[in-house]
Amino acid sequence: MTTASHVLDRVLVLEMVRVTEAAAIAASSLVGRGDEKAADHVAVEAMREALNSLYMDGTVVIGEGERDEAPMLYIGEKVGSAIGTGPKIDIALDPLEGTTICAKAGPNALAVLAVAEHGGLLNAPDVYMDKIAVGPGYPEGVIDLAKSPTENVKALAAAKGVEPNEIIVCVLDRPRHEKMIAELRGIGCGIVLIGDGDVAGVIATTNPDTTIDMYMGSGGAPEGVLACAALRCVGGQFKGRLVFRNDDERARARKWGIEDLDKIYDLTELAKGDCIFAATGVTDGSLLEGVKRVRGKMTTESVVMRASSGTVRWVKGEHRLS
Ligand code: FBP
Repeated sequence: MTTASHVLDRVLVLEMVRVTEAAAIAASSLVGRGDEKAADHVAVEAMREALNSLYMDGTVVIGEGERDEAPMLYIGEKVGSAIGTGPKIDIALDPLEGTTICAKAGPNALAVLAVAEHGGLLNAPDVYMDKIAVGPGYPEGVIDLAKSPTENVKALAAAKGVEPNEIIVCVLDRPRHEKMIAELRGIGCGIVLIGDGDVAGVIATTNPDTTIDMYMGSGGAPEGVLACAALRCVGGQFKGRLVFRNDDERARARKWGIEDLDKIYDLTELAKGDCIFAATGVTDGSLLEGVKRVRGKMTTESVVMRASSGTVRWVKGEHRLS
């Protein structure tokens, strides 16, 4: 019998870095060029080509959209060089997380993917998700989406042994978060507002150097699953609830097998079993350095981590410009 970890062993963990490197390098040529679509397109093409060179029977479960709206890396697309014969792998990917960041040369644009055994990643529709996350080291249940922002901050402050006004929360800078931001500022929290890129925002809670204690607010559901794969590897807590703006979005969720539309998902329900998370920086950020062109070479920085072992590898790459 093939066990879950054997399945992932066969797809070499480090091979995942080659995939995110390829997408990041492609996107990097369009950093600051003001063209989100073009940057996303080249990243998608490069990631798809790299995935297709890997020995696996891969299925995209989170990708660029549904088949009728995305020509490449659509949900359900088969990738890999051993379709039908190789290990069955589910893949969640975002070849360019932060298309606007890339277009404007802002911080924290990433090429990112997560892989798991078949069925390990929630088939999240492209809708919003209410998210709350903290890094490792706190008692289980310290965050709770059913509670108010104030209650969550107070619980975290008590667990950390500090006052609520010492808690720093990362929030996407969006009008929909105005009320929450006002509430958090009302209790004295520091708020790190990010323009885009909440995969990096959630992961920032795991890195004390960022000073970010908590992530809160709604962002893309696919990005929520990707961030969960990373937290499964490095520790931390996450709760997420899908947000539906209309019946079409509800129908999409049902199509992908989601019955309970109000469910609050825990980390392990979004990314379960063994999984691998890999990311390469496109632009400099709190997690990774971006792609640089220096003295006839390109340099990349990537991270790849695995849930079953908890191993985190930081990979610096040097690539010929050609
Ligand atoms: P894209 O790379 O698809 O542009 O996503 C960037 C992002 O900021 C995500 O990190 C975040 O989850 C989502 O957009 C938030 O969506 P919106 O911009 O609609 O608020």
